[in-house]
Amino acid sequence: MIKVKKRKILLLPGDGIGPEVIAEVKKIINWFNDKKSLDFEIDQELVGGCSYDKHGTPITDEVFYKALESEVIMLGAVGGPTWDNLEFSKKPERALLKLRKELKLFANLRPAICFKQLVDASTLKPEVVSGLDIMIVRELTGGIYFGEPRGIKPIENGERKGINTHTYTTSEITRVARIAFDLARKRSNKVTSCEKSNVMEAGQLWKEEVQELHEKEYKDVELSHMLADNCAMQLLRNPKQFDVIVTDNLFGDMLSDQASMLTGSLGLLPSASLGAKNKDGEMRAMYEPIHGSAPDIAGKGIANPIACILSFAMALRYSLDLDKEADILEKAVQDVLNDGLRTKDIMSEGMKETSTSAMGDAIISKLQ
Ligand code: IPM
Ligand code: MG
Repeated sequence: MIKVKKRKILLLPGDGIGPEVIAEVKKIINWFNDKKSLDFEIDQELVGGCSYDKHGTPITDEVFYKALESEVIMLGAVGGPTWDNLEFSKKPERALLKLRKELKLFANLRPAICFKQLVDASTLKPEVVSGLDIMIVRELTGGIYFGEPRGIKPIENGERKGINTHTYTTSEITRVARIAFDLARKRSNKVTSCEKSNVMEAGQLWKEEVQELHEKEYKDVELSHMLADNCAMQLLRNPKQFDVIVTDNLFGDMLSDQASMLTGSLGLLPSASLGAKNKDGEMRAMYEPIHGSAPDIAGKGIANPIACILSFAMALRYSLDLDKEADILEKAVQDVLNDGLRTKDIMSEGMKETSTSAMGDAIISKLQ
């Protein structure tokens, strides 16, 4: 049997339901190793609040350097109320933001697909969401998340001032817009670029740069510009008008949470954070479900592992060049949903409610 080269996957389960959903992905990786001789090499480390509890920092240098060397990082989730009152630099989220920034993972792909089996799980009318297939491309290393100056400083009269700065440069905008246009060409060839060009200079620049790139290189793709608040409204009114949405870091954070509920549950949305390719054509990448640590349901065995499992399918496709394996994994998820298996978040009448690990096992049995 031909063995492909060993490929390193770093698992960072994190906090809350992170470890529960990553455990299911681990089973799937092991299945691929055993049954398909794929030779993935798994390593696992602490990140987020659990790392703070053990080491006093949300990410140690050792883990950070490991991440730098890994071709694929699978992250569960970070954060929770336990660590809410920590000083800013120690908060669990800093680990995630550091990984995104330092690994230069500038393009965050968040697909929102409404599976036909789950049209009734959405709070929106079935005719509004059925057949929905949107790709949100969120800029991930710029904007107000990282802009300087930032901080909280005392001002006159005993008051304090909180400061964050929203900035974008031409190249930060064009490199993420290029990803959106390229993706659109493989889909329905339509890009909607969202900003607040009516109130923010950085938004105006965003719009102009996207427009210019379009005229120079992507005339064949249909481009429209939309104000981000209007986009939030249109996502509820008529979400199927969208194909690819490209937007900045903060708007992308909010619009993707909103889009997830069109699909029925936050527990279904995977994501891929992609960086630039190095000269050997290798690209750093991190994959994570968008749902976060969900501390309210952590430890109960009821979290939906599908977003995390579909994130691994994205890793197979975008980092590991294993399209066929990604297809069979996505198909296995569909098959399990067809059988009526549901975790609590997507449970509806007549379906079979199942636990996190039983859902993972069922998906594996469909892979066989
Ligand atoms: C996300 C999350 C993160 C973000 C948090 C956990 C820092 O909400 O990935 O959408 O705001 O980007
Ligand atoms: Mg978010």
